[in-house]
Amino acid sequence: MTATTTGPTPTGPTPTGSATSGPATGCATGIDPAAQGLRENATFDRATIAAIRQAAQTGLYDIRGGGAKRRLPHFDDLLFLGASMSRYPLEGYRERCDTNVVIGQRFAKRPIQLDIPVTIAGMSFGSLSGQAKEALGRGASEVGTSTTTGDGGMTEEERGHSKTLVYQYLPSRYGMNPRHLRQADAIEVVLGQGAKPGGGGMLLGQKITERVAGMRTLPIGIDQRSACRHPDWTGPDDLRIKIAELREITDWEKPIYVKIGASRPYYDVALAIKAGADAIVLDGMQGGTAATQEVFIEHVGIPTLAAIPQAVDALQDAGLHREVQLIVSGGIRSGADVAKALALGADAVSIGTAALIALGDNDPALDAEYRKIGSAAGYYDDWQAGQDPAGITTQDPELSSRLDPVAAGHRLANLLRVMTMEAQIIARACGKAHLLRLEPEDLVALTIEAAAMARRPLAGTNWIPGEPSTPPSPPSSAPGQACP
Ligand SMILES: Cc1cc2nc3c(=O)[nH]c(=O)nc-3n(C[C@H](O)[C@H](O)[C@H](O)COP(=O)(O)O)c2cc1C
Repeated sequence: MTATTTGPTPTGPTPTGSATSGPATGCATGIDPAAQGLRENATFDRATIAAIRQAAQTGLYDIRGGGAKRRLPHFDDLLFLGASMSRYPLEGYRERCDTNVVIGQRFAKRPIQLDIPVTIAGMSFGSLSGQAKEALGRGASEVGTSTTTGDGGMTEEERGHSKTLVYQYLPSRYGMNPRHLRQADAIEVVLGQGAKPGGGGMLLGQKITERVAGMRTLPIGIDQRSACRHPDWTGPDDLRIKIAELREITDWEKPIYVKIGASRPYYDVALAIKAGADAIVLDGMQGGTAATQEVFIEHVGIPTLAAIPQAVDALQDAGLHREVQLIVSGGIRSGADVAKALALGADAVSIGTAALIALGDNDPALDAEYRKIGSAAGYYDDWQAGQDPAGITTQDPELSSRLDPVAAGHRLANLLRVMTMEAQIIARACGKAHLLRLEPEDLVALTIEAAAMARRPLAGTNWIPGEPSTPPSPPSSAPGQACP
């Protein structure tokens, strides 16, 4: 738990329970309160009590990094059916399951060709160190996928080590440089983020070093709060003008993505398609952030799972599903998540938090150091304050020099390979010769919430909440059919 840079030093987090967060095992008497029959309150749990105490003591609201921490309907609430008698599986050791994806062939002369459908999400230089940016570029390039800039602009480290680099065009315009638009392989117009749809960026003063300040034209060491909407537009028609302008600047070569935070995905996707987007990036509320108000992260937006079917509806209603690609992010952790997102209709996914973990963030070996800054390995607080001992979410030269971009890049490449292989394992079991052949019919839901949101039947039934019960439908593709 953390607070802004002004005001008294807050009480630190309480990962194992502390005096600020209520009774804990090993308290003064040495007796476990639970063993005494004391019961914690589900409404006023320890974290809630600590948050109230902190607000009362400091008068500050909480700002933190990472995505929503509470349990939300997610990909874990879906299961694949796999093949048996009525479906025909593919052999893993001799039958192919392709993984390539093309993004942006609607209008761009040079669509993006990716070897795998897992990309690296936009993360700002400023929130991340130069070494981390280099490592992301190295890891993504090693396995033939793209990485993305972020608020604050393009760095040498990232452009130099990324075979395919997407350049974000953000409301803040921090670091915006027309030369960089031309050096990029695709442009991503950011309208919002899943962690804070409707909100602007934040970067706390500890991370505004001379270099970061220079790139953003900001004073050194002062908290930065960036715009929540683009300065030169007031509605969807202005997005159309902006996309046309970006196409002119980049000679109609580069695909233009539009990134939205999941809130009203049907309408936002429909408007982005109408404005001329080549691809949509849809970021659900589990999506990570460098720094955002806790109240925003936990209470604004809709879960990734709920957002995908609405976005797919908008694409299908426009007759552009698979022609305008859908890239989904927000809580993607494994090949199972990748496969589920694709089966629901995404063309690719993007990862932020998982990529940082692969680089070495929140490494348990650094737990003692995380505790010194008021966090603990695995708790994902204090990213914004810039003292990350792993050298990733920091601008401190001593800390960032701890990260070896070559080794960290290999770790990221390994994770991306594993995610892809896991997705292939599932796809083959469903009889699919390409990951993009996965389809909703391959999935069932474990909970009523997930069934309603993903519009898949509750496992073992043919019941989808809100829809009349129907017999199971046949698969839409022939088994083993390759993707066009
Ligand atoms: C450290 C960090 C910095 C980020 N910076 C940006 C940014 O500059 N622009 C942006 O559009 N999204 C930013 N994001 C959000 C990611 O692009 C992405 O939407 C999110 O991390 C996906 O969810 P995941 O972290 O669960 O994979 C950032 C996320 C993190 C963790």
